[in-house]
Amino acid sequence: MLNFDYYNPTHIVFGKDRLSELDALVPKGIKVLILYGGGSVKKFKTLEKVIQSLPNREIFEFGGIEPNPKFTTLLKAVDLVKKEKVDFLLAVGGGSVMDGTKFISLASHYDGEVKDLLTHGFQPVPIKTALPIGTVVTLPATGSEMNSGAVISHNGGKFPVFSPLAFPKFSILDPTLTYTLPAIQVANGVIDTFIHTVEQYVTYPEEGRFQDRTAEGILRTLIEVGKKTIDNPTDYNARANLVWCATNALNGLIGAGVPQDWTTHMIGHELTAMFGIDHGQTLAILQPSIWTVRKDQKWKKLLQYAQRVWDITEGDEESRIDEAIEKTRNFFQELGVNTQLTSYGVTHDKIDEVVNALERHGLTALSETGDLTLDISRQILEDAMSNK
Ligand code: NZQ
Ligand code: ZN
Repeated sequence: MLNFDYYNPTHIVFGKDRLSELDALVPKGIKVLILYGGGSVKKFKTLEKVIQSLPNREIFEFGGIEPNPKFTTLLKAVDLVKKEKVDFLLAVGGGSVMDGTKFISLASHYDGEVKDLLTHGFQPVPIKTALPIGTVVTLPATGSEMNSGAVISHNGGKFPVFSPLAFPKFSILDPTLTYTLPAIQVANGVIDTFIHTVEQYVTYPEEGRFQDRTAEGILRTLIEVGKKTIDNPTDYNARANLVWCATNALNGLIGAGVPQDWTTHMIGHELTAMFGIDHGQTLAILQPSIWTVRKDQKWKKLLQYAQRVWDITEGDEESRIDEAIEKTRNFFQELGVNTQLTSYGVTHDKIDEVVNALERHGLTALSETGDLTLDISRQILEDAMSNK
């Protein structure tokens, strides 16, 4: 097992009917800015309930944080925070609202050129204080509710922003708040959680037995509840299991002490930035192709994945790996997500543009060992064009 630090200070408040506890979670007598997206929280009355739960504070609102939150939108909220001297930020929404709120929290305490916060990749941004934030989660997918990262869109790119100061103080996870999600967003959430897990698991063996078994538990749970929670959105236990899997897939636990390979996310971010394909869908398109192209490098863990996640024990090693890749692709398709890049209207001639964007963003040595070159990214994209 590799050396690691594990730090996670977020207080999770999980379960039905817990919004009223906001009154105890958010300090009284302060200025609170509530942030949300395109209006789903208004339509489904979550915002109303949140505001009712916060008496004795001065409340401000900032709506309109779009999916794949834009730097320019978030700057407007930073201005509001500074003008009104806001004390606390409360995100009510999915990953985009939570990520946007984290960025606003960091940017409103940053003295330098705010755009520079987009340039630090997976390294913590150079900042010593930030505004405290809390979240009320309406979409289980990103794990943003219990991690220190955000992904911010700007000028045709998606930029990771990290800081230990960005951990939410608390996150309310009430699975019933997610019942109103369209089926495709639930499918995106299942897939995002699945891919976060395999990116910290299907690498090379490093004797992280707890991490592996926990990752396998998350994956098997997703296979059990994924389709069920799409078909029966108000089945509480199915949805609750998805919500808790999503949080634990990306809160640092399963990735501590083991190699990680974020190739799927890095290429996926380019597909979202260039073609507007949903985050979860980009991952479903790429993951089977990445495993097909990288079979040799991931051989042992793919075999372990085949046996322990899909119960595949018959046949020679390569056929077991191929079957596991096939079952994974079928799983995504059964959730209602197309896995071919061409299904999203992307034509073959666009591959060059994607590879150029990867180069422009410095993503030329991806994978758990840094050996995944632009040429290999190109092969992956070729395979993803029209895989079956
Ligand atoms: O904007 P509103 O009107 O609220 O509608 C949203 C949005 O259109 C809707 N929605 C959310 N909750 C709803 C709902 N509709 C009905 N009922 C509800 N309860 O869903 C749509 C998508 O929301 P969004 O927040 O964009 O989705 P998601 O949670 O998948 O977040 C995606 C973003 O997170 C980033 C992605 O790159 C992308 O920008 N990621 C963040 C990560 C992190 N911070 O750790 C890791 C992830 O890998 C990911 O990269
Ligand atoms: Zn993701």
